[in-house]
Amino acid sequence: MTTTSPTPLLDIRGVQHSYGEVVALRDVSLSIADREFFALLGPSGCGKTTLLRSIAGFETPRQGTILLDGQDLTALPAHRRPVNMMFQSYALFPHMSVEKNVAYGLEAEGVGKAEIRRRVGETLEIVGLAAFAQRRPAKLSGGQRQRVALARAIIKRPRVLLLDEPLSALDRKVRAEMQLELKRMQHEAGMTFVVVTHDQEEAMSMADRVAVLNRGGIEQLDTPVGLYSRPATRFVASFIGSANLLDGSATGGPAGGASSVDVPGVAVFPATHSFAERESVTLVARPEDVHIVAPDAAPLQGVVVDTFFLGGSSTVSVEVAGLAKPISCTVHAANVATRGERVGLRFDAARVVVVANPVEAPAPAAAA
Ligand SMILES: Nc1ncnc2c1ncn2[C@@H]1O[C@H](COP(=O)(O)OP(=O)(O)OP(=O)(O)O)[C@@H](O)[C@H]1O
Ligand SMILES: [Mg+2]
Repeated sequence: MTTTSPTPLLDIRGVQHSYGEVVALRDVSLSIADREFFALLGPSGCGKTTLLRSIAGFETPRQGTILLDGQDLTALPAHRRPVNMMFQSYALFPHMSVEKNVAYGLEAEGVGKAEIRRRVGETLEIVGLAAFAQRRPAKLSGGQRQRVALARAIIKRPRVLLLDEPLSALDRKVRAEMQLELKRMQHEAGMTFVVVTHDQEEAMSMADRVAVLNRGGIEQLDTPVGLYSRPATRFVASFIGSANLLDGSATGGPAGGASSVDVPGVAVFPATHSFAERESVTLVARPEDVHIVAPDAAPLQGVVVDTFFLGGSSTVSVEVAGLAKPISCTVHAANVATRGERVGLRFDAARVVVVANPVEAPAPAAAA
């Protein structure tokens, strides 16, 4: 469990950056705790690398401050920041052994031989490459090369390690293994990791907390469970996991706020928080929160159009008259519904979430 300390290790306040006309970061503020495994998640072009490069000192934000241990980092050049960045395209020295590749950074700093030997041994142990110290990179697998790159970044013992898409070069299976390994390494090295990814499963499986970025701004900053079960915006709801998104409007409230949400043709749900009367909202229902029941056991009916058997569970798509898209439901048995069958649908009202729809077209602020 992560506790957010009163003084965060890294404190990013009101950071804005643009490249000419292109606004890459709009007023980003977030705090990262010491030894936290933090992920920056978002679609391509949302500003993840720009934020990482700003922390590392390769980019100077137009506005805002970045503090580490309460000290302003922006005044320091990249090489003097207690931060190390592992780039997506890391280059290992092909003519050097694993050991030499890892030692290189310390040698360049003039660290003593005995100290280097000790730290290389310890670091190779952490990344699980102790047995490969004498190999050349060409004779390693992709996952092992990735570990060498990590070892090179860890050995300098930065306070914060910034990793830009560290696992993107790996295939699915190795990637899943490395996700677990990264978490273990972070724990063993006692370091703070900030990992960039556009893969939501990856962020959710590794990170203590995740900042979801969209078009240069933070949509939501939360734990993986929080993002999944309490998405704050329609964007987060659709980006994290799968969800049925139904348009509705807030209605029927006492003075000062609407208390329920009407999804035409589906049902009226209690509002999860207060909305303005008639405010346009989205009802978010995860597939596992919609249950298939007998047709006469629910006010809402539909026809099964597809079933996908996934092993332990199946996803059933149910077409409902008046809705643009079929409703997805997760069922934990192989043959609970067949195509063409008429079924009833019951939404778990205690688990669905209602979010306000964005007011249309907030044009990003023009570059200063
Ligand atoms: N050097 C640059 N010059 C001009 N525009 C840039 C530059 N670097 C990035 N951008 C633009 O800034 C925005 C944010 O880019 P950034 O690289 O931070 O995105 P990202 O979230 O890392 O995307 P990806 O997942 O594709 O790596 C994009 O619109 C991008 O085109
Ligand atoms: Mg990037």
